[in-house]
Amino acid sequence: MKRIAVMTSGGDAPGMNATVRAVVRSGIDKGMEVLGVIKGYAGLIENNFTELSLRSVSDIIHRGGTILRTARCPEFKTEKGQKTAIKNLAAAGIEGIVVIGGDGSFMGAKVLSERGVPTIGIPGTIDNDIAYTDFTLGFDTACNTILDAINKIRDTMSSHERISIVEVMGRNCGDLALWSGIGGGAEIIIVPEAPLSDAQIVKKLTQFKKSGKYSGIIVMAEGAGHADELMERLTKRTGFHIRSTVLGHIQRGGSPSMQDRYLGTSFGAYAVDLLYRGIGNRIIGIKNNKIFDTDITEGLKQVKKFNKKLYKLAETVAK
Ligand code: ADP
Ligand code: F6P
Repeated sequence: MKRIAVMTSGGDAPGMNATVRAVVRSGIDKGMEVLGVIKGYAGLIENNFTELSLRSVSDIIHRGGTILRTARCPEFKTEKGQKTAIKNLAAAGIEGIVVIGGDGSFMGAKVLSERGVPTIGIPGTIDNDIAYTDFTLGFDTACNTILDAINKIRDTMSSHERISIVEVMGRNCGDLALWSGIGGGAEIIIVPEAPLSDAQIVKKLTQFKKSGKYSGIIVMAEGAGHADELMERLTKRTGFHIRSTVLGHIQRGGSPSMQDRYLGTSFGAYAVDLLYRGIGNRIIGIKNNKIFDTDITEGLKQVKKFNKKLYKLAETVAK
């Protein structure tokens, strides 16, 4: 392949820029031209491409967000939108494409491959909700952002002898809550995969009180409920002073961690290598510390398993 493109799609994630940089520089190193698609699948439909040079990706490795911008584009789910995108790709002489995004974006990548454009997917989402890979790009940075918030909230909670409910992102997947809860020493972790009733939470808080704890942190995934509602219910049912904080989009931004810069750089170079060899319809991941690729359909078929062992460990060390 002589001319490839790269795009970011769906929710942005720290490390996307490091990935774009690696795609551009690895591609140019192999003698290819690399174009950027602006705003994901919307850019394909709107013919919004830009030539990327070695210098156009300078100074971005440390930046969160995505210089290519991103979008959610319902039109690409339609036959008409897909045909327009394919026509635009052909007119621009683009022979292969790297899509950085979540599982929705991978459905789009599958469509592109099926319509004859070799496409490689790179998992980029803070949620870590993609089954075939141990980690997605941006998850580590988001966990560290949450940890920073938990640390600060803990300072004031212990000073005032209060309990704080910290609501983090993750609609269907509790990984952000689970991992940041482990790292932040959360007393209670509430995730969609292992919901807790109010009675169970009250019981845990009562046990903590008996064991001499006078403050604590409850980390709750957004998919498991609303922090302010839980705060009201628990305040009525316990003698604790309870506060709630919804972290929101602060979790999506920020300078990528070392782990996400490493993943982005490795995934990006790996994707270019596949396209260079004429291979498409693959998604890239990391399993047991090894970067690998798998067929898009096979990868998407896998169902994410809840890490019960980690959840149990969190409970054990929260005592
Ligand atoms: P994420 O990639 O973060 O999971 P979305 O689920 O919003 O985010 O998907 C991003 C975009 O991928 C969608 O806006 C749409 O353009 C494209 N997409 C999602 N599902 C499909 C599908 N079934 N077929 C074609 N394109 C899709
Ligand atoms: O998928 C990533 C994510 O940040 C989720 O954790 C969150 O629920 C959602 O995106 C928020 O999306 P929006 O971009 O619409 O605010």
